Amino acid sequence: MTTNTVGARVAVVTGAGGTLCSALALELAIQGIKVALIGRTKSKLEIVRDEIEAQGGTAMVISADVVDREAIKKARQEINSKWGACSILINGAGGNQMSAVTTQTVFEPEELGKTTPDKRGFFNIDLDVFQDVVLDNTMGTVIPCQVFGEDMAKNQKGVIINFASMNTFRPLSRVAAYGMAKAGIGNFTQWLASYLAPANIRVNAIAPGFFINDRSKKILLDAGGQPTDRGESILRQTPLKRFGQARELIGCMNWLIDEEASGFVTGTILPIDGGFMADSGI
Ligand SMILES: NC(=O)c1ccc[n+]([C@@H]2O[C@H](COP(=O)([O-])OP(=O)(O)OC[C@H]3O[C@@H](n4cnc5c(N)ncnc54)[C@H](OP(=O)(O)O)[C@@H]3O)[C@@H](O)[C@H]2O)c1
Repeated sequence: MTTNTVGARVAVVTGAGGTLCSALALELAIQGIKVALIGRTKSKLEIVRDEIEAQGGTAMVISADVVDREAIKKARQEINSKWGACSILINGAGGNQMSAVTTQTVFEPEELGKTTPDKRGFFNIDLDVFQDVVLDNTMGTVIPCQVFGEDMAKNQKGVIINFASMNTFRPLSRVAAYGMAKAGIGNFTQWLASYLAPANIRVNAIAPGFFINDRSKKILLDAGGQPTDRGESILRQTPLKRFGQARELIGCMNWLIDEEASGFVTGTILPIDGGFMADSGI
């Protein structure tokens, strides 16, 4: 694996303090790749760096917001000066916010003109938060692609992996802003794959099904760790009848960064979802 990995020794992982990308960052480091860990909360990144170093790997922590282009450019400068150019970019930063999620699945007349936080429909949702979720996920992917993609374009080699979702393919109830953003990421991934092909940069996306993280835990599981109604409805439509585990994304990432194994693969959005996409629910 290591020798075919786009000749790469430097990777950038955004959202590296999170559930899914901390596991991917650790795997890259185990392969001998230097990993720059980017996220807003330094302490979360430091935990991942410490784990990487404990396993003999090399990592650097950069606290930065992925929607802040200047901060991401500064991050690139720091990485370039210490390690050289980046040739793998994993765009994991993103996610949803509870107040951008409606409390109901369909329109209810009570939502008209009301701003009660416990009853959130499309008509009284806070559009500032809605916009925040859209920007965090979309521009938070576009900006690192632009900044670190430049490193790759100069060297005529690179792999970008974006994070899509089940929402990329069809809308899921209650999560309009997040769904809109993840659909955008799917489209952008395909567009960028075509655009960057002459620069020998492959761009793909992983679309995880349902994995438990700190936020989704509150939606999918009750206090006793049993599935909530929403958790149950997801499991009903997941043929493998369980939620995913972060380590189950590692094989996909390893394949996508391996020049020999996936050198002809670009512009794809790969569901890792326990069969969710395949099941019509009927
Ligand atoms: N878990 C799932 O079931 C699932 C399903 C489909 C897609 N995904 C996607 O997969 C990716 C990783 O998800 P996850 O489950 O690992 O979520 P997570 O545990 O919440 O991790 C996401 C990380 O992104 C960072 N982040 C968010 N906004 C950022 C910003 N503007 N700048 C810098 N860092 C930012 C967060 O850290 P800070 O807040 O400290 O910055 C957090 O550590 C996300 O894009 C998510 O949308 C997840």
